[in-house]
Amino acid sequence: MSKIEDYNKTAQVYNSRYRDTQFEKYKIMLDGIKLKGKILDHGCGTGLLSEFLGEEMVGVDSSQEMLKIRGEGVHSDVEDMPFKDEIFDVVLSFSVLMNCRNLERAIEEIKRVSKSDGFVICTFLKAFESKIKPILEKHFEIIEKKQCGEDVGFILNPYK
Ligand SMILES: C[S@@+](CC[C@H](N)C(=O)[O-])C[C@H]1O[C@@H](n2cnc3c(N)ncnc32)[C@H](O)[C@@H]1O
Repeated sequence: MSKIEDYNKTAQVYNSRYRDTQFEKYKIMLDGIKLKGKILDHGCGTGLLSEFLGEEMVGVDSSQEMLKIRGEGVHSDVEDMPFKDEIFDVVLSFSVLMNCRNLERAIEEIKRVSKSDGFVICTFLKAFESKIKPILEKHFEIIEKKQCGEDVGFILNPYK
């Protein structure tokens, strides 16, 4: 079964299982951060991040069942997003990248849709750091690295 089929199957229980865990990650990563402009909730799932922030954001996810719970969002693979270049001021990606089949492509896509003066926050399971961090370093300047529970998180600036 693909990861997206897994998310489709477990969408109904996602919020009750993971709300507290995800909210803790949001608190750690977004502490002291000012969000403004157009925000992308990358791999938005059921919409826990917009519930936490109370902010209007564009959500993108490839699981229809997760999106149904969020209410609205763009149904797309994050490896090929239907957005114009350099349109987001902020990209927030919580617990998504380790699911991507082509990491290089997914990270290039985040960079493509980010404004040059914008920033990106991403987290993923710690076990994936050795695989994902070198690709992040190729495309972004790492401003800060934080430990956030089961994840490691990065605040990034795009190199343009
Ligand atoms: C662990 S959940 C995190 C959801 C949300 N970011 C949160 O904080 O609760 C991972 C999400 O990434 C989505 N996802 C995984 N791989 C994806 C891909 N290649 N394209 C789009 N969405 C993807 C899944 O459907 C799922 O909703």
